[in-house]
Amino acid sequence: MSFATDASSFEISLDPRRIDIDAVHAFLRTSYWAQAIPREIVAKSVANSLCVGAFSGGTQIGFARLVTDCATFGYLADVYVLSEHRGQGIAKRMLTTLMAHPDVQGLRRLMLVTRDAQRLYAECGFTALAAPDRHMEKTDPEIYRRAVKS
Ligand SMILES: CC(C)(COP(=O)(O)OP(=O)(O)OC[C@H]1O[C@@H](n2cnc3c(N)ncnc32)[C@H](O)[C@@H]1OP(=O)(O)O)[C@@H](O)C(=O)NCCC(=O)NCCS
Repeated sequence: MSFATDASSFEISLDPRRIDIDAVHAFLRTSYWAQAIPREIVAKSVANSLCVGAFSGGTQIGFARLVTDCATFGYLADVYVLSEHRGQGIAKRMLTTLMAHPDVQGLRRLMLVTRDAQRLYAECGFTALAAPDRHMEKTDPEIYRRAVKS
């Protein structure tokens, strides 16, 4: 699907073959949530997720993925748009396209974690946790940095 704004034109695609692993890795390895992530982990996560890409002039400028069983649950992750392309509705287009994927209709729960982009996700129907005390997590934030050292 192609879109045009006052500033530029871009394409949104759900085709996994179009995802540029090098481009996604280049962004994610410097992101606040996946610093130092190895390329092979990015490739594996892309291969095992439903992905959406945004492209301008054939270059990947945005990405998001949904980790899902395609039946009940999905976890939205790794959403980004390159800084020079922000503020044109590209992230919103990527997310609405991903959520409209035929394989993820009727899911009972979608989740995500964000530091500061709550407003973006609110526009896609996400809300703050209704019952935070019922949610738990198990994380290992240093795992990628340890992998680099060893
Ligand atoms: C967050 C990000 C993906 C948004 O991309 P974008 O293409 O600029 O977003 P859009 O233009 O589609 O914005 C859609 C709406 O979300 C809002 N929004 C976008 N980024 C936001 C942010 N960081 N914080 C709060 N609201 C944001 C916009 O104001 C806009 O609202 P509007 O429709 O009322 O104007 C982009 O800023 C980014 O890549 N940031 C760095 C990586 C990151 O933080 N990703 C999110 C991890 S959870």
